[in-house]
Amino acid sequence: MTFDAHPRSSLIVALDFDSLKSALAFAARVTDTVGMFKVGSQLFSTAGPEAVRQVAVLGNGVFLDLKYHDIPNTVAGAVLASAAMPGVQLVNVHALGGSAMLKAAVQAISAGVPMGADRPRLLAVTVLTSMDRKAMREAGIGGTPMTRAVKLARLAKQCGVDGVVASVEEAKAIRKACGRDFLIVTPGVRPAEQPAGRKKDDQARTATPAAAVRAGADYIVVGRPITAASDPRAAAQAIVEEIAAAK
Ligand code: C5P
Repeated sequence: MTFDAHPRSSLIVALDFDSLKSALAFAARVTDTVGMFKVGSQLFSTAGPEAVRQVAVLGNGVFLDLKYHDIPNTVAGAVLASAAMPGVQLVNVHALGGSAMLKAAVQAISAGVPMGADRPRLLAVTVLTSMDRKAMREAGIGGTPMTRAVKLARLAKQCGVDGVVASVEEAKAIRKACGRDFLIVTPGVRPAEQPAGRKKDDQARTATPAAAVRAGADYIVVGRPITAASDPRAAAQAIVEEIAAAK
């Protein structure tokens, strides 16, 4: 589950589609050039657990990105149900839910998995990559994205969470604070070479795939630069090559 494996295994593609049909049609085109597929709130709200089941059939593995943030008991139930779905390798919650919620999620991720079987890894979202300092202040979250993300990563680690979702900007500091075995997943990744007009979309804290690798990310999450590309296979392949070159 690191960059030591084939470079494509560290590329997670976000299936942010409004129907399962279009998500599957897209996924089938890139399945052998990418690592995992991410099922997020858009696809899950449209197609539910059936989306996870059908994406899992492709064999790439699923990052179920539903970012749970609720009271501990409710989050534990949601994590338990997520871990029981086929093919799910990564599940996440918001670190801002606090230590009781994080510990409940940690317990739930292992419960229900047969002894000896590989369990999904639990991640905590630190600060959304769409938020900059101003957006944080508006929401009453103090400090910079850097200080806040590192603090939340430490909290998650103390609670037994396997890793975090953070921007590339904070990855290096999180790696230093939380050690080699802590997983770091970075969205907000934008290739250096992009078609005119396509820039950051709604992401505020972005970086290139090469920068993500150099900062110590285990996985990078890429959505629109691949899903909206005129040639998604070529876009994915270019990112994998960039990952390989930066290793
Ligand atoms: O299209 P784009 O590459 O911006 O997609 C990024 C994906 O990563 C989206 O599915 C988004 O939900 C997800 N994500 C994020 N920031 C986080 C956690 C997840 O952008 N902190």
